[in-house]
Amino acid sequence: MTTKLHKSETKTNVHQSGSSIKNLVTAGIKMAKKTVADIDVKGKKVLMRCDFNVPLDENSNITSDDRIVKALPTIKSILDRGGSLILMSHLGRPKGRKDEKLSLAPVAKRLSELLLKEVIITDDCIGDETKAKAQALKPGDCMLLENLRFHKEETIKDKAAKEDAQLRQAKDDFAKQLAEMADIYVDDAFGTAHRDNASMYTVPQVMEGKPRVIGFLIEKELKYLGDMLSAPEKPFVAILGGAKVSDKIGVIENLLDKVDRIIIGGAMAYTFLKGMGKSIGNSLCENDFIDKALQLLDQAAEVGCEVMLPVDHRVVRELKQGASHRIAVGDIDSGWQAVDIGPSTAKKFASKITDAKTIVWNGPMGIFEMPPFDEGTKTVALAVAEATDNGARSIIGGGDSASAVEKLDVQEKISHISTGGGASLEFLEGKKFKAIDILDEK
Ligand code: 3PG
Ligand code: MG
Repeated sequence: MTTKLHKSETKTNVHQSGSSIKNLVTAGIKMAKKTVADIDVKGKKVLMRCDFNVPLDENSNITSDDRIVKALPTIKSILDRGGSLILMSHLGRPKGRKDEKLSLAPVAKRLSELLLKEVIITDDCIGDETKAKAQALKPGDCMLLENLRFHKEETIKDKAAKEDAQLRQAKDDFAKQLAEMADIYVDDAFGTAHRDNASMYTVPQVMEGKPRVIGFLIEKELKYLGDMLSAPEKPFVAILGGAKVSDKIGVIENLLDKVDRIIIGGAMAYTFLKGMGKSIGNSLCENDFIDKALQLLDQAAEVGCEVMLPVDHRVVRELKQGASHRIAVGDIDSGWQAVDIGPSTAKKFASKITDAKTIVWNGPMGIFEMPPFDEGTKTVALAVAEATDNGARSIIGGGDSASAVEKLDVQEKISHISTGGGASLEFLEGKKFKAIDILDEK
């Protein structure tokens, strides 16, 4: 199904240059941020916020070390130049209590293997013992603080703190204890850039007057995402999937006047299809968002952005591993649920991707973790890889789409796989990252 209107070139161009400038400013990248390369770290204690929120299996084994590996350039640069490194991160959502299963110990171990040097892990991210360990660090030493979210103060939102003096005090005190240990603050936690956690936002506030810079990972992420939005080569195609349309409304709204096409798959497509009068059987649908979905389609038509939705579907009666499935064309019978885009849709989507020159993709086309309902996602992944081979710039955000390209072993063919899921979405929404905004400018 395609909604297409003729594009008014002039209108679109005027629109685009205006909003892309706005985008750069709101993302905090109009003014170049100082990076760790701009400061002297020799003999200094450097407190660095990373996003080591890595996926773990039931035995706490790391199943993807991508976020650790991508932090290495900044870590090595600091250690090689004689800085003493105090790394900090969250892992999971332990809700302010110690939870052994969410210890950062496996991360310290992996990091130590990658760096070929010892990485000390503390028992707690704050406290006298931790402070003493920080003081004792020599140039080139590396220490990782235990999970920041074992303390509830880490995730107190500034909005809540504004209305409650006790919360404000608690968040500030926690941040001060972290800040106290260091001379320099480095933020390289792109995956957490959309949060105002104490370690992301309050610590750099407390450290005002000391160097507060971004690392190379954040620099790279902002460059790729920022360039894509501000100067995309056309055709520019956005591929969106995943369960909920409500998660992607802001992204669609912000991208409508920038992209030529939006390809929509995954369960979120069924909210649109139901709104358009299709029978969707038992497929997931956010009834409260049907009106909004229809409004987005109207907006797209107005600016001449082509929106593509599934025309056929892989459907099951019961959602379970090995469930028998069939292809439904157009409407879906009652009692059946869509679990993937159908083969005709996959082919159509692929043909609309392979000629693109700029591609952004977030979210799978179906229940990707349950083969064979990964077929649609695979076809899309291969089309993105092929387009990139043909010269397109491709950017993937979100863990599921990233693991799809990894599974197919085409990750090398993607221009940029973002370490941010929620963060890359908020960037695409044009939201401001206040945690990055307050850091030093060049
Ligand atoms: C993520 O993986 O989304 C980031 O690490 C942020 O984690 P959070 O969504 O639990 O804040
Ligand atoms: Mg998240």
